[in-house]
Formats: sequence, C-alpha cells, structure tokens
Amino acid sequence: MSVTASSPAVRSFHVSRSPSHKRVSKPRVIMSAVRSSDSLGVAPILTKLKKDCATPLPVLRHVADAMAFDMRAGLAVDGGSDLKMILSYVDTLPTGNEKGLFYALDLGGTNFRVLRVQLGGKEERVIATEFEQVSIPQELMFATSEELFNFIASALGKFAQKEGGNFELPQGRTREIGFTFSFPVKQTSIKSGILIKWTKGFAVSGTAGKDVVACLNEAMERQGTDMQVSALVNDTVGTLAGARYWDDDVMVAVILGTGTNACYVERADAIPKLAKRMSKSPITIVNTEWGAFSNGLPLTEFDREMDAESINPGEQIFEKTISGMYLGEIVRRVLVKMAKVGGLFGGSYVPEKLITPFFLRTPDICAMQQDTSRDLEAVESVLYDIAGIKSDLSARKTVVDICDTIAKRGGRLAGAGIVGILQKMEEDSKGVIFGKRTVVAMDGGLYEHYPQYRGYLQEAVTELLGSEISKNVVIEHSKDGSGIGAALLAAANSKYEHDF
Ligand code: BGC
Repeated sequence: MSVTASSPAVRSFHVSRSPSHKRVSKPRVIMSAVRSSDSLGVAPILTKLKKDCATPLPVLRHVADAMAFDMRAGLAVDGGSDLKMILSYVDTLPTGNEKGLFYALDLGGTNFRVLRVQLGGKEERVIATEFEQVSIPQELMFATSEELFNFIASALGKFAQKEGGNFELPQGRTREIGFTFSFPVKQTSIKSGILIKWTKGFAVSGTAGKDVVACLNEAMERQGTDMQVSALVNDTVGTLAGARYWDDDVMVAVILGTGTNACYVERADAIPKLAKRMSKSPITIVNTEWGAFSNGLPLTEFDREMDAESINPGEQIFEKTISGMYLGEIVRRVLVKMAKVGGLFGGSYVPEKLITPFFLRTPDICAMQQDTSRDLEAVESVLYDIAGIKSDLSARKTVVDICDTIAKRGGRLAGAGIVGILQKMEEDSKGVIFGKRTVVAMDGGLYEHYPQYRGYLQEAVTELLGSEISKNVVIEHSKDGSGIGAALLAAANSKYEHDF
C-alpha cells in the first residue's frame, strides 16, 4: 500500500490563525516583573467555573436521555428537534466485495484531501491507496462558492493526472468520486444534497441552499476535470462505511475534531419521516448532526459570550461545548476574565495577545495539560511562547486547572452523547446493542491527540452504562477511515454495472 501524505483532511485538530494573529517567534517580555497571581481574586472565578461546568451522573444521564429523545423527534418529522437526523441515502454497507479504482474527496476543515484507492474484492481488499492533502487558503473560507470549488476541482484534476502504478481504470470509464462533505447537507439522493449552512468558521457566500455536488461538477467542468461524483457523504457516514468494511460490529461513527458529529445504522421502520420514500432496504445510515444539540447542557458565561460573538449565534451549541475548534477559545476567555478581575498575571494586567479571539488553540491547552513537571515548565513556555506571558507557579496551576475543567466537561458530554445514541438503538431492538459487542468508530484529532479528553469520554460511558454493559461497547479509533469509506460508497453506487 503506498501512501503519499499523512494527516487527515477534515478532522484536523488545528484551527488556523489569520496572519495578523501569528505567534511571536521571539517572545517579547511584556511584563517588567513577575507578579504572583492574586489567589483571592482567582479562586471564586475558578470555583464558579467548575460548578457551572460540572457533569455529575444526573447531568450525564439527562444529556443521554435528551439526545435519545431529540433523535426520535428529528426522525419523526423534519425540524422536529435540534437534531436534523439527515437521511444519508446509504442503505447498504460495504461488503468487502467492492472492486476497481475509485476516488475520494474529503472537504470539511482547513484542509481537504484527495485520495484514490484500488479495491481488490474480498481476497485482496485494498490493493493500493494514495492521497494528497491540500490546505485551503484562509481567504477562500470567506470567498465565493465558485472560487472555493474552482480551487478544489483544480487540485482534484492535478491529482488525477498523477495516476499510475497500481491504479487501473478500465478503458472508456469516467473516474468516479466519493465526495465527503462535512457540513450539514440535506441529501436529496445518494449523489446530491443541499447545503443547509456552513459550520466550523466557513463563511463562503452562495453555497447555502445549493446542491454541493452540482457546485463541484460545474467547477470540474470549468477546470476541465473529467470526473464524476457517485456518492455524496458526510464524514461520519464515510467513517462508518470505512470501519464497517473491516468490522461487522460497527454501528455508530463519531467525529471529534475541529467540529463534531455522529451517525448510526438505523432501522428503516423506526424512521417515520422515511415513509414517503419507500426504502427497499431494512436499514439506512442516519446523520444526526448532533453538533446542533443543546438540551440541558451545563454552560457558562464564557460559552454564552463566545456563542453571541460567533458567526452562527445560537447554533451548534453542543459543538461549541465539546469540539476542538472551541475548547481553546473557552479557556482563553476564562483567562482574560481571571487576568482582568482576578489578578491572574498580576494586578489587572491582561496580556495583549490573549485578547485576540481564538488565539489560544485546543492543541495549546492540550500541550499544557500534558505537563507533569513539578514547576510546570511546559505550561510556562506555552504561555510565554504564545503571548509573552511570564507566569508564576500558582498562575500556571490555575491555567492547567481551567484546561482540565473545560476538557473534562467536553469529554464527558461527548461520552453522554454516544450513550444517548446507543440507548435509543437499544430501546428499539432489545439486546442487539448492549447484549453483544457493538463498535463505535471514532475519528478526529481531538480524540486522537488529547488523552485526558479521551479518558473523560470513556469514563462517562462507563459511569452511564455500568462496568458490565460498557465492556460490550468498544470505542475504536478509525483513523482517516472516511476517505476509503467514501470511495467504497462510490463503488457501491457506481454508474457502471457491478456485482458487489
Ligand atoms: C458539521 C458536520 C460534520 C462535523 C465533523 C460539523 O460542524 O456540521 O456535518 O460531520 O462538523 O466534521
């Protein structure tokens, strides 16, 4: 298997900064002297933060129950709850028999990824894969739809031209693509869907309300790229398909990266709103779009302010509480308040850099939490490198405590969300979920790179399900599975005759 690039496209842990937010390379010492943090001022803020972020078992239980309840309401009728419960039009899961050359395009974060895979059927499985990652220039996230799709179509075309070696397209065939588009889309068929809204900081004009496959096809035509989309899938759906290719027990897929979402295998007869569409298959994958969940979440003044100032106020509240794009920003807001009124960095001194929204990123708070040294030296350098902050040990301990509080809330709530989905599935088909091994395929940089977050997530699942049942629930990291998953779904929905 040959691989030409490494990290995932859409589940990136990194939130890019605009050039004006660049880190100081040689940090300038802003303070003239190191002042000790005024613990009397910091303590009440920290206590209140911890209280507001607390996720004891009853809160977790409420979140899991509310998630299950909202899932049902969203399945009953479109608009029935915060959860869109989008029908994916994926009614068959990969079998392992898929054969041929297929492409995948993965768009959902600050990078996108193009991939080709040569599938060899049950015996040979994945013969070869190759992928390339392209970062999206910051300005394209705020450009027009045409500009963004032109850029993608052109990269896709260039990648296709490099095909060779183990990859073989039968004569006279058009290259088929599985298009992973990781934003809320109202699917209208397996190969078409209307963008409901952008998330994760994208504000491209002219795409919402349009069929994103048509946008891509038109751009490919403009760029002279001769390829065709055979399947449009959310990244959760791609991840589920990719993981299911190797393991029949996969029933749920979750993304915890820049953004967050979950999908699962639903029974067609449990979807009242499906009635009109006369499904031939007994199952279908439902994309919950759980990032929009909001029922009973423990929120703080910092969450409310961040939401109010965001480009999508009132939306994606679960995502804003648990996902990688926002955790660092919540911590930053707490730090600003503690510096201003709690004397965290001495007096009412607020480091200039800290005032810039999104300046502190989730990988930064993750790095600080990994510091096990007595003097918290790594925390000291992160604070210094990022904002030229000189901190004393007491301030550094407070910073770590804040990071832990926010990561703990996020991880535990994510765990409760997963239990909510499993609980709903179990209620409908007793024993099928909790009575046997059930796999939750997980992808995303936040889950992958933040051990404490991961630990808190697992802890909440075990607390909610009890130690016996939770042994049957396996949360498995399925790194970059969505690319292959999308290609597999392109194969299953190929316009050419096939017997898999
Ligand atoms: C999007 C989802 C996506 C998730 C993870 C969210 O912001 O709304 O469609 O699956 O991010 O990438």
